Amino acid sequence: MADSFSLNDAVHGSGNPNPQGWPGPWGNQPAGAGGYPGASYPGAYPGQAPPGPYPGQGPPGCYPGQAPPGPYPGPTASGYPGPTAPGAYPGPGVYPPPGQPSAPGACPAAGPYGIPSGPLNVPYDLPFPGGVMPRMLITILGTVKPNANRLALDFQTGNDVAFHFNPRFNEDNRKVIVCNSKLNNNWGKEERQTVFPFESGKPFKIQVLVEADHFKVAVNDAHLLQYNHRVKNLGEISKLGISGDINLTSASHTMI
Ligand code: GAL
Repeated sequence: MADSFSLNDAVHGSGNPNPQGWPGPWGNQPAGAGGYPGASYPGAYPGQAPPGPYPGQGPPGCYPGQAPPGPYPGPTASGYPGPTAPGAYPGPGVYPPPGQPSAPGACPAAGPYGIPSGPLNVPYDLPFPGGVMPRMLITILGTVKPNANRLALDFQTGNDVAFHFNPRFNEDNRKVIVCNSKLNNNWGKEERQTVFPFESGKPFKIQVLVEADHFKVAVNDAHLLQYNHRVKNLGEISKLGISGDINLTSASHTMI
């Protein structure tokens, strides 16, 4: 019957652009995310795709809406796209390039732009021939294995680990992300984050943006944490080790 349709249906029905209530990019910044200065962040890390379906919503193995990293057209003086509203993205025609498999619904497995594209063997090393530097954006796509225990990213300089990012799925029945550095074979003081965006069996996207004073980490387009540089000579950070209970689809870096 016609009168069975209500405003409530209109608002909460299939016309709702976000029926599953997923957080928008940077929309769920955790309060305790480690003192994220500057509060708001204009959308996802620049240089990335417009928001597609959240990882896990698309066909298995796909990261719909995920664009391969590439040069960000027309960076502003600050290195970021213009003063976009929160959650906004570069305008139409900027990204994704027409016809590229980054179009919503496409899989990145075709490996455009020479990006190593999965499955990749884990542990996997992503080399940084010139070290890392501010405005370098590292993007890792994968799927957490069922019943996962851990995964780790290790930004390494020789035998030292400049930045260890270590989600633990079951530390005394709790989920926690442990960040640390290993210098001269000694682990330092841990920085712990209990906001835990990973789920066993689910695809994920990790983005690490190198900034002058810290690494900034987003997972599934939501800011997660930042980690102040303990190894100050960024040019010596020559590779990223990716390990743990994941299937790895791609690992790449670009400048934004
Ligand atoms: C240790 C663990 C290392 C590393 C470190 C971080 O307990 O064995 O793999 O995660 O913690 O502080």
